[in-house]
Amino acid sequence: MAGRPARAATRNAEPGVQRCINVACAATYGLRERVYLCPRCGETLEIVCRLAAPGGPMAMRKLWSSRRALGARSEDARDVSGVWRYLEMLPFEEDAPFVTLFEGNTPLYDAPRSAAYCGIASLRLKHQGYNPTGSFKDTGMAAAMTQAMLSGARTAVCASTGNTAASLAAYAARSGLKAAILLPRGQVSPSKLAQSLDYGALVLEIDGNFDACMRLVEELGGEPSIYIANSINPFRIEGQKTVAFELIEQCRWRVPDHVVVPGGNMGNSTALGKGFQELLSLGMIDRLPKLSVIQAEGAAPLAHLFANLDLKKQAGREPSIPSKLEPVHNPQTLATAIKIGAPVSWKKALRAVLRSGGQIISVSEQELADAKAMIGRDSIGCEPASATTVAGIKKLVATGHIARTDDVIAVLTGHALKDPDYMIRYHEGGLSSDTGGKRDLAFASALRNTPKHAAATKAAILSSLEQQL
Ligand code: F0G
Repeated sequence: MAGRPARAATRNAEPGVQRCINVACAATYGLRERVYLCPRCGETLEIVCRLAAPGGPMAMRKLWSSRRALGARSEDARDVSGVWRYLEMLPFEEDAPFVTLFEGNTPLYDAPRSAAYCGIASLRLKHQGYNPTGSFKDTGMAAAMTQAMLSGARTAVCASTGNTAASLAAYAARSGLKAAILLPRGQVSPSKLAQSLDYGALVLEIDGNFDACMRLVEELGGEPSIYIANSINPFRIEGQKTVAFELIEQCRWRVPDHVVVPGGNMGNSTALGKGFQELLSLGMIDRLPKLSVIQAEGAAPLAHLFANLDLKKQAGREPSIPSKLEPVHNPQTLATAIKIGAPVSWKKALRAVLRSGGQIISVSEQELADAKAMIGRDSIGCEPASATTVAGIKKLVATGHIARTDDVIAVLTGHALKDPDYMIRYHEGGLSSDTGGKRDLAFASALRNTPKHAAATKAAILSSLEQQL
């Protein structure tokens, strides 16, 4: 295309390998081999890209921003997509059949009310809910479906609490693949279920929780006709890591002190950590932001493990990762997106957090609900799982891990309209959690905003305004 900047990266034949994360094994596999867990030791895999920044970091910055500038005027996936813009960092060739729904390019908002609520001078919110299907999953799904096409897959399958499902359904439909989705029956927000149905996926409601659905998907992965689209698939992580690049660009290459994300299956935290690490290794940034992960109290296996780690022993050396995580067998939270007790990518996420000097903590249902309403008051809004971030930042400020003047960014993962029922119940005072008789909380809605009835007359409306405003 005329005016297009020359492609910067030069690579050897294969743009990377898949490598087992177990350092004692470290087996490698070709990019076209369809493996999810290491066939030798059963550990998860990660992609090691052959990265190069020809012309140096400044040339890469310029290339990416020129593609963004072409944006809407172009039909090239590298210009319209916030994933494919960073092709030099991804394990794909220039002639790959890039799948895109114009994902990425999401806003970074100032959130002054939430900042004050947390006790810090300023806070910015990177809203991944402004992706095509309303969640951060779309960046990973663009990469996973492109890889599925390259590997000749026909049917893509995932377990999901709802967002991965909606995203897979949309991106599979765009790629001409069949999608089958395993959902924990009765535990998924109707908005997310509706999306998957509308995009034409086969939706299978399973008697069991997300972890049970995930175990089924791992079993199905052995079938040659099936392509797994969960974040156990390292190509998902590759797409999702691009948010780290976009975020740093939006920060004009000034590295924030903290980046805070919700934690469920731990793909997102893994991906952000990988993205920042790769920018550092190319000399495009000079330090890592501290990456912190926040879980909901009733579904917090990694926060439990983290609380018992001896961080002093870890300081200044390559993290040593425990071999086992104690799963939460009956995870409970009203933030259904992160109702997960046995996260698949916990080792990779823990490694990224430890390398960066961040924290992994949990927040209560009450803290989460109030933080969510506060994000709403900032005119931004998000789905419940995303609000763990603001609730977590408030706690990390209170414990001294975040200073008042630190530069802090929270990554919001899903759009507010993903779970309207939660919002209505909060504002009407009806939000409560019944966790199988263990706890039964009726929430005090600190930021409650109940609808009022008004008669259909001008006088009644004026009188309501007078009383309320
Ligand atoms: N926020 C939202 C809105 C999510 O949907 C998820 C995960 C997370 C946070 C946690 O991210 O799993 O990468 O640590 N949702 C998955 C799903 C499990 O099936 O949609 P994670």
